Amino acid sequence: MTPYRNPALPVEERLEDLLNRMTLDEKCDQLLQTTIGPDVNPNNLGDGGEFRPSIGSILSYFGGAHKRNEFQRRAVEGTRLGIPIIWGMDVIHGWRTGFPVPLAQACTWNPETVEACCRVAAKECSAEGIDWTFAPMVDIPNDPRWGRVMESFGEDPYASGLFARASVRGYQTADPSAPDAVAACLKHFAGYAASEGGRDYSYSDISARKLHEIYLPSFHAGVDEGALTLMSSFNDVTGTPAVVNRYLMTEILRDRWGFSGFVVSDWDSFRQLKAQGFSGDPEKVAIRCLSAGNDMEMVSECFKLLPELVRSGRLAEAVVDEAVRRVLRVKFKLGLFEHPYTEEQPVEATALLPEYRRLARKAAQQCAVLLKNENSLLPLDPASIRTVALVGPVAEDAAALVGNWRGNVDPATVPTLADVIGEFFPQSRIITVPGCGFETAAEGEIASAVEAARGADVILAALGEEWNRSGENCSRADIALPAVQRNLLHGLAATGKPVVLLVSAGRPILYPELEPCANAILHLWQGGHEAARACFDLLTGECNPSGRLAMTFPRSMGQIPIYYNEHRRARPDQGYYHDLEESPMYPFGYGLSYTSFTYSDLSIKEDLTASVKVTNAGERRGTETVFLYLSDPEAELTQPARRLIAFRQLELAPGESRVVRFELDKMRDLAYTGPAGERIFEEGEFVLSTAGLTISFECR
Ligand code: GLC
Repeated sequence: MTPYRNPALPVEERLEDLLNRMTLDEKCDQLLQTTIGPDVNPNNLGDGGEFRPSIGSILSYFGGAHKRNEFQRRAVEGTRLGIPIIWGMDVIHGWRTGFPVPLAQACTWNPETVEACCRVAAKECSAEGIDWTFAPMVDIPNDPRWGRVMESFGEDPYASGLFARASVRGYQTADPSAPDAVAACLKHFAGYAASEGGRDYSYSDISARKLHEIYLPSFHAGVDEGALTLMSSFNDVTGTPAVVNRYLMTEILRDRWGFSGFVVSDWDSFRQLKAQGFSGDPEKVAIRCLSAGNDMEMVSECFKLLPELVRSGRLAEAVVDEAVRRVLRVKFKLGLFEHPYTEEQPVEATALLPEYRRLARKAAQQCAVLLKNENSLLPLDPASIRTVALVGPVAEDAAALVGNWRGNVDPATVPTLADVIGEFFPQSRIITVPGCGFETAAEGEIASAVEAARGADVILAALGEEWNRSGENCSRADIALPAVQRNLLHGLAATGKPVVLLVSAGRPILYPELEPCANAILHLWQGGHEAARACFDLLTGECNPSGRLAMTFPRSMGQIPIYYNEHRRARPDQGYYHDLEESPMYPFGYGLSYTSFTYSDLSIKEDLTASVKVTNAGERRGTETVFLYLSDPEAELTQPARRLIAFRQLELAPGESRVVRFELDKMRDLAYTGPAGERIFEEGEFVLSTAGLTISFECR
C-alpha cells in the first residue's frame, strides 16, 4: 500500500508522500473550487463550471449522495492519484431541518443548543454528500442595516467566540473523520461586518486596535477549537483587501495562531479585486492571493494560471506546495481518502427525524425574546378565550419562519402559525386573515381584516420580514417594517382589543412605532422548522420565554451604530442627540420572562472568584441568563465602558435561589487586547457589574 493510502500512518507523512507524487498541474487543481450547476445563492453570479475530476472542491451541489458519488468516483477511480474532491455547501442554520438563524441562536445564550443544532445539520447534510459547511459566520456586526447580521452571533466578541466553538464542535465533533462530521469554516475573515454604512461588500476601515479587540477574537476561538477551514472576506480591510491580506492570513492566522487548515476565498472575490482598486491582472492577483495565505479559489479561475507562473519562475513552487499541503491535510483529517463516498440512504431515513424537530422546537422556544408584557397579558389561557384572531402576513407563511440561507429546508414541511394554532386553542373560534402582504395591501384589505379581528377576545398580530429581506446583499437604509404592516397594526390596536405582536425577522427592526400598539411583544426571530409551535408554547405558558438579545435594537436609524460595549464619552452627560432619547429601544441582553429574578450579594474574592445570588421571585419556573460585565476605569488604552466577560444560564423554580460563581482569570478576563493583538494587564481598579449590581476591586 502506498504510504498516502495507509490510514495507519500519520497525516503529515501521508500528505508529504502524496505531495511528492503530484505533478505541478495536479497540485494547482487542488486549489480550485467550482460549482457544477446553478448556484442557489442569487447573489452569486454565474451558472457553474464544468466538472473536472482533478479539481480540489465542488460547492453548492444539491444533487444528493448518489450523484455526488458518481462524480466522486471519477475523481477517486478515474485519476492517476485518486484524490477525493471535498464537497462544500452553505449549511448555515440547518440542512433539511431548519433551526433558528444564527443571530436567533445567539439569543438562546445556550452553547449546548447551538452545538446540538450544528450536530444535526452535519448529520443531515453529510448523509447527502456534503463534507464541508461554510459556517459558522463569526463576524461581529453593530449595524442592523447590514442584512448579514442574521448570520452572525451578534455584537459581542466573547459570546460569538463561545458560539463559534460550539458550532465547530457540532459540525466537526472530536473526530472530523467520522462519516457524519463535516469541516467547519469560520467566515468571513476578517472585519466584513464593518462594511461602511451597513452597505454589503463595501470598504471597511478598521483600526489595528478594533481588529484585535472586536473582529478577531471569535475567529481565534474557532481556530482554537479546531476549525479545519476559514473563508476570507470580500471587504477591503483599511486599504488591503482581506483576500490579499498577508497580515491576517499568514502573520496572525498561521504564524501566531498556528492554524494548519486551509483558507478558501469567498465567491469570485479574486476578480472583485479589480473593482476594489487593487488589481485586475489575474496573474498578479493569483500570486498575491496565494502568497498572502488564501489557499483555495472559489469559482473565479485565477489559480488556473499557477502552473505557468511557476514554470516561468514568477512564483516559487514551494508556495503552491504549502497551500496544497493545507488542502490535503483537511481531506486526510476528514477521512475522505478512507470514505470518499457517501452511504446512499433515502432522505426519509436521515432527515427531519422526530428528534430533530423536537430540537428545532426547543431552539425556537429558547431564541424568542419577550419584549413587552403589559399587565402580564401573557401567558394566555386558551380555555378563557372564545375567539382568537391571527392576523398578518406571517400568519400563513412558512418561509418567513425559516429565513434566508435555508439550505435544503422545504418550506412545505414547515408548519405555519395558522397551521398549528388550533392545537393550542382547541375550544376557541379562530379567525385567520393576512390583512396585508409583506410589502403591499389590496384596496380595503387592511380595513376588512381589522373588522374581522374586532370580534376577537385577543388579537395575534403576526408581522415581520419576508424570508429574503435579511441575509446577503440585503442592506437596508430603513429597518422599520413596511408601512402596510405598521398600518395594519395601528388598525388592530384601534379595535381596543388586547393585541399580541409576534415578529418574525432576521435582524433588529424598529419598534418605537409598533410598541404602543401592542400589549405584548414576542420577537420570534426566524425560528426555523418548529417556530410556529414554539411560538404558541410560549404564548400559552407551556414554556417560559428565556431569550435575551444578542444585538442592540436601536430606537431610530439615526442612532446606528449603537451597541452595548461602546467606549466612554469625554462628557458623559453631554453630546447626546437633542432630538432623541439616548438609550436604545431594547438593549443588548434584554428580554422578559413570565417570572422575575432578583440579584443580590455580588462579591469577588482575592482569588478572583466572583459570585452573585439569583432568586426566582415570581410564581413560575424560569430560565435566567446571568451576564457578568467588566469595566476598567483607568487604562493606558481606554476601554469600553463595559464588556461581557462571562455568562451563565440557570433554571430556577419559584422562590428558589442559587449562588452563581465565576472563576475569573487575570490575563483572560481582566487584561485587554492591544493594537498588535498583545494581551495587556494593567494593575489597578476594576468594576464588575450584573443586573444593576456593581462591585469594584483592586487587582495587582
Ligand atoms: C457568498 C457568501 C458566503 C458563502 C459563499 C458560497 O457570496 O459571501 O458567505 O459561503 O458565497 O455560497
